[in-house]
Amino acid sequence: MSTNKKSPVSRSGRFASGPAADVAKFTESISFDWRLWKHDILGSLAHAAMLKKIGVLTKAEEIAIIRGLDQIGKEIAAGKFSWKPELEDVHMNIEAELTKRVPAGAKLHTARSRNDQVALDVRLWLRDEITLLLGEIANLQRALVTLGERNADVIIPGYTHLQRAQPVYLAHHLLAYVEMLERDCERLWDCHSRVNICPLGSGAIAGSTLPLDRALVAKLLDFVDANGKVQLTQNSMDAVSDRDFAVEFCAASALLAVHLSRLAEDVILWAGTEFNFIKIADAYTTGSSLMPQKKNPDIAELTRGKTGRVFGNLISLLTLLKGLPMTYNRDLQEDKERLFDTADTVRASVRLMAAMLSNTKINRENCAAAASDPALLATDLADYLVRKGMAFRPAHHVVGAVVALAEKTGKPLNQLTLAELQGVDKTFGRDALGVFNLKTAMAKRNLTGAPGTKEVAKQLARWREQLS
Ligand code: ARG
Repeated sequence: MSTNKKSPVSRSGRFASGPAADVAKFTESISFDWRLWKHDILGSLAHAAMLKKIGVLTKAEEIAIIRGLDQIGKEIAAGKFSWKPELEDVHMNIEAELTKRVPAGAKLHTARSRNDQVALDVRLWLRDEITLLLGEIANLQRALVTLGERNADVIIPGYTHLQRAQPVYLAHHLLAYVEMLERDCERLWDCHSRVNICPLGSGAIAGSTLPLDRALVAKLLDFVDANGKVQLTQNSMDAVSDRDFAVEFCAASALLAVHLSRLAEDVILWAGTEFNFIKIADAYTTGSSLMPQKKNPDIAELTRGKTGRVFGNLISLLTLLKGLPMTYNRDLQEDKERLFDTADTVRASVRLMAAMLSNTKINRENCAAAASDPALLATDLADYLVRKGMAFRPAHHVVGAVVALAEKTGKPLNQLTLAELQGVDKTFGRDALGVFNLKTAMAKRNLTGAPGTKEVAKQLARWREQLS
């Protein structure tokens, strides 16, 4: 990069020389904000249409600008555009190239600053990104539902403290993640409503003295709410310095990453020899360079691991913003890499987790063996006593004594005799051991939200319908 080349767009006039080489290197953003090119061009097209409407551009000039931007867009898409670091960022690169080809390009920046331009581009980019991410999350939800449906009769132990607690349908466990992911979608969609507001026309800080038609630009760029009402930022100073929307996205994504990480952790446990509940297809695992027998759940591990950078990006953004005086400050350029990284990371994690789960088989026998542990139904035995009229506290105590007896005699709970049970408490009747029939036990769990046979089938059907 040359030291003294004058950059044709922003520095002409005021500056005698271009920035020193290491200054240019330190301040440039083209190495990462080139990604905004499509949205930068879209914004410029809308701005040009508006400038034509208010008489700043002639029809011929507008057409020349449209053609020029179109051509530049095609070259960028084809990888044939040469980005110039001395032009700092995506905005100046595109505008400078346009102006080289189309003289009217020199009018395009009328009543526009890179401050409102970058705010616009990032909003446009993030709007698309949220839509894509929501689509990927729905795919992951579908993969979870499908796995649940294919194994609708599989029961596993549910765990608290990672200790066996009570039996649940595998589908119930999987649907817990579908619920979490749904809340993530709601948060992202809510964030979308605040991303979807047009800042263009705010200028550098104070709008413009020219009679811009902000609503036209907003309409052209589809900044409208569900009722078709145009969404415009209402304070130019806020509009050029606000990055709340980026923070919100990173926060919603951080929570999404938490959910993905928890799912990943379950997958890792389940794939391990100790649980051995699932088998991930070879193509979605990796081997060890040393131990020939290894098959590792790396997708899940990396999903869990990448949570760290997603959290980091959120904290970086918050820290970036906290001491900024009004209004735009160059610090804000640091928002993009954090935002891009979060968007790329969560989208890839969601996609890969969905692909992996779609290629995962359930080891039904191992699940059945684990779920057959009668201790999982100890609480059902207490409920049995409650049905017989005993208060829950003493019932809990009695079953505790039964569990202790089973341990002492080295028998599983369901192998105790009626006499042994009655030795602990006379309330136990002939039907007491029937509690340990897993099928009937599951049929009884039919409260809303419970893992009962009917309820889980209902929830699977509801999600299948909702996600189709
Ligand atoms: N690359 C800059 C950013 O991302 C664009 C805005 C620059 N504005 C300015 N007045 N220097 O924030």
